[in-house]
Amino acid sequence: MAHGWQDTGLRYGLVTRIFHWSMAVILLWQFSGIVINRLIGRSALTDMLNSTHGEIGAVILLLAALRALWGFYNLGNRPKHESGPLGTAARLGHIGLYVLMLFIPAVAFLRAFGSEWGLALFGVEIVPRGAEDIGWMVTPANLLHGIFAWTLLAMIAGHIGMALVHRFVWKDEVISRMAGKTGKLQAAE
Ligand code: HEM
Repeated sequence: MAHGWQDTGLRYGLVTRIFHWSMAVILLWQFSGIVINRLIGRSALTDMLNSTHGEIGAVILLLAALRALWGFYNLGNRPKHESGPLGTAARLGHIGLYVLMLFIPAVAFLRAFGSEWGLALFGVEIVPRGAEDIGWMVTPANLLHGIFAWTLLAMIAGHIGMALVHRFVWKDEVISRMAGKTGKLQAAE
């Protein structure tokens, strides 16, 4: 018998749901400071949100790595994507989200380790300021960090959009699996 914290073929368990919704909140935090800054300019609010950019990035990297491991461990043991082109698109979209959540902070840390700007996380100096830039370490993030971060934001918008289509157009139970709803699904287990 499956425990509530494990995934099953019919719904996501507590561990997966905690990963999913905690990452939703911290990604919202990470993007909102930058987006608000772009839309209406710099303020005390955007300074506060953006002052944790590296720390939130570190938490996202850690959670994404743990979540990917948890996903592999549960691969044969969680709700399946539908067959056909929509299911394939959903599977590729989810893989893409994982890849970006790992790549975007990883490449930024590579830059931080090889950059004259140094790096402090949670008030602790990790890399001192003032060293020489190391080209191969800073170039990938200079080229890709921003563009891939905006791509991630667009994919998150698509992800939320498709979840709403499932809920309000197709009226299926895809959202319930991640909302931890009891009822029809659990009764069927
Ligand atoms: C998943 C985690 C992260 C996300 C979603 C993210 C997102 C973003 C976004 C949207 C921008 C603005 C790009 C633009 O202005 O066009 C940005 C810039 C920046 N981020 Fe991140 N970031 C993450 C992690 C990190 C980490 C861990 C660090 C540092 C160790 C970092 C350092 C920077 C820096 C220095 C910039 C300004 C230069 C640039 O655009 O490349 N980021 N980030």
